[in-house]
Amino acid sequence: MLRRLYHDQPESFAFTPANQKWAEAQITKYPEGRQASAVIPLLWRAQEQEGWVSRPIIETVANMLGMAQIRVLEVASFYFMFQLQPVGSVAHIQVCGTLSCMICGAEDLIAVCKEKIAAKPHQLSEDGRFSWEEVECLGACSNAPMAQIGKDYYEDLTAEGFGKIIDELAAGRVPVPGPQNGRYAAEPLSGLTSLTEYDSGKTQYNASAQLAVDLGETVKRIDGTEVPILTPWLDRSDKAGKPAKPRAKAKASAPKGAKGDAASAAKPVATEKAVTEKKPRTMTAPRKAGADDLKLISGVGPKLEQTLNELGFWHFDQIEKWGAAEIAWVDSRLRFKGRIERDDWMAQAKILAAGGETEFSKKSKK
Ligand code: FES
Repeated sequence: MLRRLYHDQPESFAFTPANQKWAEAQITKYPEGRQASAVIPLLWRAQEQEGWVSRPIIETVANMLGMAQIRVLEVASFYFMFQLQPVGSVAHIQVCGTLSCMICGAEDLIAVCKEKIAAKPHQLSEDGRFSWEEVECLGACSNAPMAQIGKDYYEDLTAEGFGKIIDELAAGRVPVPGPQNGRYAAEPLSGLTSLTEYDSGKTQYNASAQLAVDLGETVKRIDGTEVPILTPWLDRSDKAGKPAKPRAKAKASAPKGAKGDAASAAKPVATEKAVTEKKPRTMTAPRKAGADDLKLISGVGPKLEQTLNELGFWHFDQIEKWGAAEIAWVDSRLRFKGRIERDDWMAQAKILAAGGETEFSKKSKK
């Protein structure tokens, strides 16, 4: 199948403020020079926000990651999970058409899509609210035939039941995902034949369906306010004195269905705390003995070293003195925020300034 950019593109794209923060946080996961590794998460988040990947999205992600736009397009067009054309505003339905599902009735489901949505895959329904496509095996073969709608699986489908699910969605409701024939999960239809005692603590629905019901975001577009932005790799929660809440806990505190409350209850991470910037002591040139090799600090590559030099930093003893306000000043001038604290440049610089070695500097010199 030829995958190319859609002929009718929007003028622009911007992440919502919360999604922007999320995206910036993702970028800090990767070491200097490896920011391109965040391309899939960023494209995915953009698709979760907009429903599909447009040219402005590709341009935005390329700019954020310092990548050539063609590289981002290559990723977006390679992976079929990225929709390169507009999808239904309510739901995009992905019907599995691989062996098990085909044997068990996938063609009947596709016929329902053709009748209720549009004659061809990737075509919008007349009201623009639905679209569909046939996809390869989604790994739920023992619950064939099945379809993915938004984020969740609807399994053990019949044409009639599937039609009703689409009607429900059209009416603004989200049917409970999971098996639709009374099965709890993927046990035999006639009931359990082994592990029969495995019953304790059972939730109303199987784990996937239960989580889907609890989160209530099956076909929702994600604006970033759904859950707190957790950045444990930055290890800032300890410094702020407030451990970041685990996702499940934050959710559990919110009443079911009260998404607004959940969003407002979601505490932002410490990275979002505003710190007043203060310019650290800078120099116009290195001392006579020559500049220190700032690349001996883990997290500083050649490009970043050049940027630091341009900002007026040449020596370890300059960096070791940075406090929160100075870090904020430097951070705001680097393309990828958060890495100074993540790699604790100050502690590394202190050791190096005193003539010592860090594990990283030892390795670098080998
Ligand atoms: S064949 Fe449909 S989920 Fe595997």
